[in-house]
Amino acid sequence: MTTNDLFTPIEIGPYTFSNRIFMAPMTRCRAPENIPTSLMATYYEQRGTAGLIITEGSQVSPQGVGYPATPGIHSEAQVEGWKVVTNAVHEKGGHIFLQLWHTGRVSHPDHHGGEPPVAPSAIAPKGEAATYEGMKPFVTPRALEPDEIPGVVEQYRQAAENAKEAGFDGVEIHGANGYLPDQFLRDVSNKRTDAYGGSVENRARFHLEITEAVTAVWGGGKVGMRLSPSGAFNDMSDSDPVTTFTYLAGELNRFDLAYLHIVNALERDIRHGSTVVPPFRLREAYKGVLLINGGYDKTSGNEVIAGGMADAVSFGQLYIANPDLVKRLETDAPLNTPDPSTFYGGGEKGYTDYPFQE
Ligand SMILES: Cc1cc2nc3c(=O)[nH]c(=O)nc-3n(C[C@H](O)[C@H](O)[C@H](O)COP(=O)(O)O)c2cc1C
Repeated sequence: MTTNDLFTPIEIGPYTFSNRIFMAPMTRCRAPENIPTSLMATYYEQRGTAGLIITEGSQVSPQGVGYPATPGIHSEAQVEGWKVVTNAVHEKGGHIFLQLWHTGRVSHPDHHGGEPPVAPSAIAPKGEAATYEGMKPFVTPRALEPDEIPGVVEQYRQAAENAKEAGFDGVEIHGANGYLPDQFLRDVSNKRTDAYGGSVENRARFHLEITEAVTAVWGGGKVGMRLSPSGAFNDMSDSDPVTTFTYLAGELNRFDLAYLHIVNALERDIRHGSTVVPPFRLREAYKGVLLINGGYDKTSGNEVIAGGMADAVSFGQLYIANPDLVKRLETDAPLNTPDPSTFYGGGEKGYTDYPFQE
């Protein structure tokens, strides 16, 4: 019997990806006016040897914006901008999924003409929002009215249509990291008393409705879902995360998705006292392709695949600094070190100027 590792091709939906070294979604704040640029096309094209690129979060609507200079997928100009990106990646022989994003309560009135951001419940997270004038304390969001929620689901459906027009190979729903769907899912941020709050079935409803809407556009095999069961980022927690996340993972089986993408407990989550959901609990609950993320390197990535705990691994920071990560891992070449001061915002420096292996 042969053992799979990071370099074994993998079939997902209609695609065969040439390796399991996927690029994790990463916001880089280099899209002025929220429109993707040709510099972004260069950045993604440089990383085109990844088995699959998952783009940075891309807002499904103006209401979904929560950070400066992040790209959207709700206007014609944005679709045109993304076309340049998808063409560049395809020319390199790569595959690219767009991450669909709505930041919900972790936005700021500065991004919404002075109006508060929206959320399942009017509960302000602890922490600060990123604005064009720097960091500002989070405000209390406005709870979405029950009759507004179908409109937000429609924003996801339309964004999925737009992503198709922009030439993507699929989309990933950003259901993780304390953004709008995660705010519905976890009981720290959802105190609703209607069909979207209370029981785990109700709190998972928003995830499942947007999954329904997006898979209606793309078919299940071209749609991924990202979840962070152990994540404390954006002031998140849940009173019973194992039950919450295994329930949702089980319900997702019926969509025959491209993959479920799990973010492991990161160092900062553990520091914030998060309850760790062991990845094997999701592996048991979810029957399809499992993509895992969070602090992996070549050795631990090969181990998690060989051990059957995941089918592929996504790498974040290593891809920031190593456009040719696949080749470097293959040849055990030294890795460039990422520079956190250039993660968010700026131009080519720390973005498209990391050297390729000689
Ligand atoms: C600069 C930066 C931006 C990020 N932006 C996103 C994002 O837009 N969407 C998302 O789901 N995760 C985002 N993440 C989280 C990463 O996808 C990943 O979960 C994290 O970096 C841990 O993986 P790693 O240890 O391989 O870097 C971001 C991480 C970094 C470092």
